[in-house]
Amino acid sequence: MKVLVYGSGGRDHCLADSYADSQHVDKVYICPGNPGIAYTPKGKRGLIEVVKLADFYRVAEFCLEKGVDLVDVGSENPLEEGLIDILNEKGIRTVGPKKDFVKLESDREFTDKLLQKIGVPKPEYAVFTDPLKAKSYVRNIGYQVVVKANGLAAGKGAIVCEDAAEAEAAIEKIMVEKIFGQSGNKVVIEERKYGTEISFFAYLDGEHIMPLRMFAQDYKPAFDPDDTESIQRFGGNLNTGGTGCYCPHKLLSPWLVNRIIKEIVNPTVNAIYNELGWAYKGVLYFGLNLDPYDNLEVFEINVRHGDPEWEVLARKLSTDLFEIGMAVWEGTLDQVKQVWNNQYYVDVIAMEGRSKASRGWNKGYPGRYGKGHKIVGLDDIGKGIAIYFAGVDEDEQKGLVTYGGRVLHVIAGDQTLEGAREKAYRNIKKIIFLDHNNNNANCMRFRETIGL
Ligand code: GLY
Repeated sequence: MKVLVYGSGGRDHCLADSYADSQHVDKVYICPGNPGIAYTPKGKRGLIEVVKLADFYRVAEFCLEKGVDLVDVGSENPLEEGLIDILNEKGIRTVGPKKDFVKLESDREFTDKLLQKIGVPKPEYAVFTDPLKAKSYVRNIGYQVVVKANGLAAGKGAIVCEDAAEAEAAIEKIMVEKIFGQSGNKVVIEERKYGTEISFFAYLDGEHIMPLRMFAQDYKPAFDPDDTESIQRFGGNLNTGGTGCYCPHKLLSPWLVNRIIKEIVNPTVNAIYNELGWAYKGVLYFGLNLDPYDNLEVFEINVRHGDPEWEVLARKLSTDLFEIGMAVWEGTLDQVKQVWNNQYYVDVIAMEGRSKASRGWNKGYPGRYGKGHKIVGLDDIGKGIAIYFAGVDEDEQKGLVTYGGRVLHVIAGDQTLEGAREKAYRNIKKIIFLDHNNNNANCMRFRETIGL
């Protein structure tokens, strides 16, 4: 069987890797992919091949030419742009929701109203299109809030605020300065919650639900809590797309999984299938909070796997991913058996740190970061450690170089969480980003506390 994964980040590389492990699959194409993939064993063997295709119609033609059996679309943007719809029109099997269903992620107001209507718990919220009204609201509400851009923002569109002044500044950044582009035309202002964040996933096939009985924890803040120097330098511990992840989550238990399914997943999917009448085929991501009083609430719903959550869950999942993907397409998820191995997994993300710019310094991700730093040390990575590439590029002279703020993921598994942490950290320390403007000093950074 042949699979095509559409996407270019760490989650998409990981999806391609899992499909390549399937007993049914002998070829995985990844489009547009990234140049790091060719540096991995499966890339070198041609089991995973990066392909560049001009547009979605060309993707469809390519799938027909090559006889691709299944396409999995990893991220929200191509889903919103209608890739699934175009492929399905040509009779190509897919995993991922149609364009119209992406609203669940791209329109927070729509989803919040739906959840409220069906009684799925979520924090108090209000919606604004006028920044002045939004600012007046946060000045008067009294409690702490989170300001969220209403549209897609690659998992980064929420600003957690300590007080009204921070909330006003967040509104200014999102609605006036448009740091998340047009997604900031409308904001959802939500009560700030305390507790433990849980990323929970379910596959849907248009008829059945397969909730994953395993969940992960993402580390969104840019810095470790005790890294006060960086936090001060950046004016706060900014939210990122994720700096690392581990699974199983410390709160994982059969009873909590059952509660999540009963209180959150089942009513939501029931509303999607029956109230909205949507034959949704793909993944649903429930961003949840469990508060100190044991209340579960929904922060957000996304229409794809979490990144970096999928990178650890995929390592732990022993069920053949191609069998899941085909069941999503065929409507037979009720026949799939979930099997998880007994390891812990830790994903530590190597990020662009402080580097020398042609004039002055780049602060590093999530601030302005440099690019084109040669990546060395990959050959020294130990056996059994997975490397998934994200923000990388190929340079004619230097070979593999950095390109994005989050550059690559190092994922290690072990029978204990401590063991997985030790392996992940031992291996990420072998990787160096050479800062060519600063005597090749290492400008890579990572958080030290993933899994703690
Ligand atoms: N891990 C957060 C996200 O994927 O949106």
